[in-house]
Amino acid sequence: MSFQAWSARFLQQVRGVNPFAGDCLPTRVSLFGFGRPTLPFPHLWNYKNPIKIFETFYWDAEKETGSGKHNRYLYLAGLPPVLLTREPAIIKAVLAATGDKPGQFDRDTSPMAGIARATGEDSLLYSNGPVWRRQKRLSAEPFSRSNLFQPEKFHGFEQTFRKTVAERLETLRSHQQASGEKVSRIQLEPEIKVVMLEMLVNNFFGGNVSEKELRNRFAPAIEMLIDHMISDTVAPVSLALYRMFTGRNAILKQKMADFEALTDIALSGRAEGLGLWKQFKSDATDEALRSNIRVFLAGAMEATTSFASWAISHLSHASEIQDQIYAEVKDMNVYDPDNLMSAGTLNRVLEETLRLTPALYFLPRRTTVDTWIETTDQRKMFLPKGTQLRLDVWHANRCEEFWGKAVTGYPAEKFAPNRWEFLAKKGITSRDMLHFGFGHGPRFCPGRFLGLLEVGLVVGAVVKMFKFTAVGERTQAKAGVSTKPADRVLVDLELRT
Ligand code: HEM
Repeated sequence: MSFQAWSARFLQQVRGVNPFAGDCLPTRVSLFGFGRPTLPFPHLWNYKNPIKIFETFYWDAEKETGSGKHNRYLYLAGLPPVLLTREPAIIKAVLAATGDKPGQFDRDTSPMAGIARATGEDSLLYSNGPVWRRQKRLSAEPFSRSNLFQPEKFHGFEQTFRKTVAERLETLRSHQQASGEKVSRIQLEPEIKVVMLEMLVNNFFGGNVSEKELRNRFAPAIEMLIDHMISDTVAPVSLALYRMFTGRNAILKQKMADFEALTDIALSGRAEGLGLWKQFKSDATDEALRSNIRVFLAGAMEATTSFASWAISHLSHASEIQDQIYAEVKDMNVYDPDNLMSAGTLNRVLEETLRLTPALYFLPRRTTVDTWIETTDQRKMFLPKGTQLRLDVWHANRCEEFWGKAVTGYPAEKFAPNRWEFLAKKGITSRDMLHFGFGHGPRFCPGRFLGLLEVGLVVGAVVKMFKFTAVGERTQAKAGVSTKPADRVLVDLELRT
């Protein structure tokens, strides 16, 4: 950007000119304000609490009217505006207008710089424009609903997934029995993470890695790399210095090597057509696929672990809902699509989990040119070129105005699977009430069907075998690449008799 353009923008900022226009006009967030949760941008002392940073944007917003309450922008230092929105109609309009056509929104890669350094830039997740389109075509087939959910293909997966889950739970059960105690206290998130990685590596990619190695070597390596990706995005220089002086460089290098080894394992099934590779038709070289495999391994493990951990965490506060799911799954031996569809409570629990505690709590976008968007109720918003958008799904889904008692029958902040029944009775489906748990529009999650299958299996199997009660009265959220229960799903676990 030229100095002239920068100073024109800087002047606009000093004069307090609103760079947006239209009938959903966003309002400005000032840099400082008394009593706010934190500063409205990430820095070394607050970046581990991004949800608090977002909350800061809405501080004092109640005095605004209309869309100004929900669309808030930061505009300073000659930088392009940052727009945070929790208005579902705006989120939907932006997601629908994201893609590779001229003038469409890009995924904003600035909050993902650390992810790209660890996984590579040429992945479906990170790329934009024609590179993204090519990557999307590549992954469309193996992940498609018709592929995963076709009876003969589905059964192969369902069986191996179910076997994996059953074996892991059996180990947990034996520990429980051997302890001689009726109830044992355990954090379930680490267990869920290993099962999710195992399904991905061994069942999906056709690998043959022992549970022990996944637990002790590969899952911790990915966990550390994910932590590293976040700090590497916010503070790359300070982090590099810190690593140099504390000797953590060597540890990180080792974890990266482990991640590469796992990527090799996932790729090695390709030549023999193992796992889902047999559905994958492409003449791309293995090398050209590496970034995507890394994204699938780390991203899918993270997202499915978040989703299943939240579902189990919510259920750990609601024993009566556990019992309802138990009644649905106790005689279910095959989790085929029909059976899963018939498990109404389980489905509503999964839907409500993604609404209240979405794994991806915000979706980043960027305008590539000056852009107008239009909502389905024909309201318009102008966004200048270079605007960085943070589509704040977390707060949108917790906003009483959009999801509260008057609209859905239950308070927005309450975990209430029955709200979906309430809505269904009014003829409203989850398609009408978007919670964006898997995104929306052209950059919708390609792993949705796989993820739902895995999470449904794990949650169903845990409920079938155990009763579990949260140790804490309320479970707080923590957020990094995805959100998770802060207590790592600490529960008292008891075998069902
Ligand atoms: C079940 C848990 C999952 C959840 C909640 C989830 C959520 C999401 C969301 C919200 C997006 C949209 C991001 C955006 O619009 O910026 C997304 C995209 C994506 N997801 Fe998932 N996901 C899950 C599982 C998976 C799995 C299992 C895979 C792969 C094996 C996967 C791979 C991806 C990829 C590659 C993208 C980027 C797609 C694109 O940009 O075109 N996800 N996911």
